[in-house]
Amino acid sequence: MEQELITLQNQAKEQLAAVERTDQLEEFRIRFLGRKGQCSTVMRALGTVPKEDKPRLGEMANAVKKEIESWYTEKQQSFSASLESSSNNSTIDLTLPGRKPQTGKLHPVTQIMNEVCSIFESLGFSVAEGPDVEHDHYNFEALNIPAHHPARDMHDTFYVSDSILLRTHTSPMQARIMESQQPPLRVIAPGKVYRCDSDITHTPMFHQVEGFLVDRSISFADLKGILTIFTQKMFDKDLDLRFRPSFFPFTEPSAEVDIACVICKGKGCRVCKHTGWLEILGSGMIDPEVFKKVGYDPEVYSGFAFGLGIERIAMLKYGIDDIRLYYENDLRFLSQF
Ligand code: PHE
Repeated sequence: MEQELITLQNQAKEQLAAVERTDQLEEFRIRFLGRKGQCSTVMRALGTVPKEDKPRLGEMANAVKKEIESWYTEKQQSFSASLESSSNNSTIDLTLPGRKPQTGKLHPVTQIMNEVCSIFESLGFSVAEGPDVEHDHYNFEALNIPAHHPARDMHDTFYVSDSILLRTHTSPMQARIMESQQPPLRVIAPGKVYRCDSDITHTPMFHQVEGFLVDRSISFADLKGILTIFTQKMFDKDLDLRFRPSFFPFTEPSAEVDIACVICKGKGCRVCKHTGWLEILGSGMIDPEVFKKVGYDPEVYSGFAFGLGIERIAMLKYGIDDIRLYYENDLRFLSQF
C-alpha cells in the first residue's frame, strides 16, 4: 500500500508535467482526482488494510491526495495566467479557431462594365480608352455640337478652362478614333464621364460605354441587330425591346432603346413610371457631318453609334432605385454583389 501511494504520487507528478493544454489538464483531473479516479480507488482500498496500519496509511493517503490537488490547482492557475498574458502580449492562442480573411471583390459597377465589354468583344468589337479631361473640340465641335448650340445645355458641363472640360459623354472617342484610323471600325470605349448633376438617378461622375461601327453599307438594321443581341445577352433572352425616335446632333436618324421593365415585366410600376418601359441607351446612324469632320466620305461609308450608362444598367439589373448607393462605400451594400 505504501509503495502504491508513492507510485501514484510519482505518476501524477510526471503526467502533470506533460500537460500542455486545458483539455489535457481536465483529463488529468478526471484520471487522478475524479470520483472514479485513482485517488478515490486508493481511499477505497484503505478499507481492506490491517487495523493497526490504518491511521498511518490513511494519513499518508490524505497527504498524497492533497499534494496532487495542490499541483493541479497550481497548473490551472498558471494556465489562466498565461492566457491573460497571451491576450496582453498578443501571443497566438493556437487553440482558437481560425478567422476567415476578408477577400475583396470587384465593385458592382466594374462587374457590369466588364460584362458589357465582354459581350461586345464577343461580337468582334475592340476596346479603346481615352482621356477624362477633354478638349471642347472632341466633346462638342467634332460631334456636330457647335458653340451656343442648344444641345450643350443638356450636358451640364464641368469646365476646366474655356476650351478644356471633363468629358460629358464617351462620344468624343468616336471622333478621336475615326480621326486616326480608317474603316472598317468596330470599337467600344468604356470610361468615366462627368456632369454637374446629383439626385437619386444622377451622380456627378458615372460610367458609359460608347460603341460604334463604320464600314461600307451599314444600315439601321445592323444597329438593331447588334443592340438586340446585346440586350438579350445582358438581361433576358425573351425580353421585349423597342427603338424610340430621338435626337442627338451626331447621329441621324437617332433612337433611344427601351427594354420592357425588368421589375414589372411591362405591366407598369413605380420604377418604369407606369409606362412598362425603361430607357437603357442612346443610339443612331453616325451623322454625315461627323464623318466629314474626320475626313471620311459619307458617300462611301456609313455606320452606327450607341452610348449606354453603366450605373443605369446595374440599377435595372439589380433592382436598385438610388444610384448614390454605388458610391457611398457601404460594405453592407457592396458585398452583396
Ligand atoms: N453620348 C450620348 C449621351 O451621352 C449617347 C449616344 C451615344 C447617343 C452615341 C447616340 C450615339 O447621351
